Amino acid sequence: MSIIVLGANGQLARHLLGTVPSAEFWGRETLDVADAEALEARLVEAAPRAIINAAAYTAVDRAESEPVEAWRVNVEAPAAAARAARRLDAALVHVSTDYVFDGSANTPYAEDAPTCPLGVYGASKLAGELAVRTICPRHWILRTSWVFSEYGHNFMKTVLRLAESGNPLRIVADQLGRPTYAGHLAELIAALDPAGDSPQLPYGTWHATGGEIASWHGFAQRIVARAAALGLLAEAPEVIPISTADYPAPARRPAYSVLAPSAAIAALDGTTFDWNTGLERALAALAGAAEAVTP
Ligand SMILES: NC(=O)c1ccc[n+]([C@@H]2O[C@H](COP(=O)([O-])OP(=O)(O)OC[C@H]3O[C@@H](n4cnc5c(N)ncnc54)[C@H](OP(=O)(O)O)[C@@H]3O)[C@@H](O)[C@H]2O)c1
Repeated sequence: MSIIVLGANGQLARHLLGTVPSAEFWGRETLDVADAEALEARLVEAAPRAIINAAAYTAVDRAESEPVEAWRVNVEAPAAAARAARRLDAALVHVSTDYVFDGSANTPYAEDAPTCPLGVYGASKLAGELAVRTICPRHWILRTSWVFSEYGHNFMKTVLRLAESGNPLRIVADQLGRPTYAGHLAELIAALDPAGDSPQLPYGTWHATGGEIASWHGFAQRIVARAAALGLLAEAPEVIPISTADYPAPARRPAYSVLAPSAAIAALDGTTFDWNTGLERALAALAGAAEAVTP
């Protein structure tokens, strides 16, 4: 088996099914990645040429009260995957997050900007990066942000569900970032050709996002407008801007969570990570699925 994908049922992995179809996909039912010893042993036994780690503990608020679980999945599992990759001389694609930064900047974060996570999720993802970087020479750490898709749980789908009532939505307008379509990320990972003999991108840490900078409020406005235009909503509800202080949550979030896109990634396959086209694709997929079940 040349490629193994961990986290088979997540947003990113569901898109990898389309872009890296020859890979073997391991979900929770195959293996609990929090069992680091078992993960390393199973990977070494399977002997892939590349491992794509799309598994993660992504519940940002819940991580505040479950730091041990977050650490196991976001640190110990990538460390185990990195040990296996090192033993096999395989490549490791590991996905990380904008939440490794504190959001106090006012220009986009470059790959080498100082990290300073605000919460348990970001801290665990940062430690996972360090484990991968320390153990496995042949690694790509792809930091991405605000991931959405027609699959799984994400902000776009929450907005669509809430918008069905037609009532106004109150959405935070003072946090900025770059929404990223999971399908674009899956296309980039395929373009890396991680199991190939010559890496398409130098090993290291890269920012895999792009497109215009938006607030959650601006993103929500675009989601409901386009969903209404495509007939997924009867009409677009009003979207009212609120501040972070109006919406207290267990985990602090970066205010300026904007990654500077890596030029080398754009050069690789022309990927611009334009989230507006990603949004069209995600909504079209949902519209197609709704049509398919309409008698
Ligand atoms: N979502 C975002 O907004 C965002 C933003 C920036 C970076 N990222 C990063 O992007 C990557 C992909 O994220 P995503 O949005 O695709 O995540 P996701 O949809 O939450 O998927 C993560 C997958 O990991 C699996 N998983 C968690 N714990 C596991 C365990 N102990 N054993 C086996 N599988 C386990 C989950 O399984 P179950 O389905 O069974 O729970 C889930 O299918 C992650 O590294 C994430 O940190 C995400």
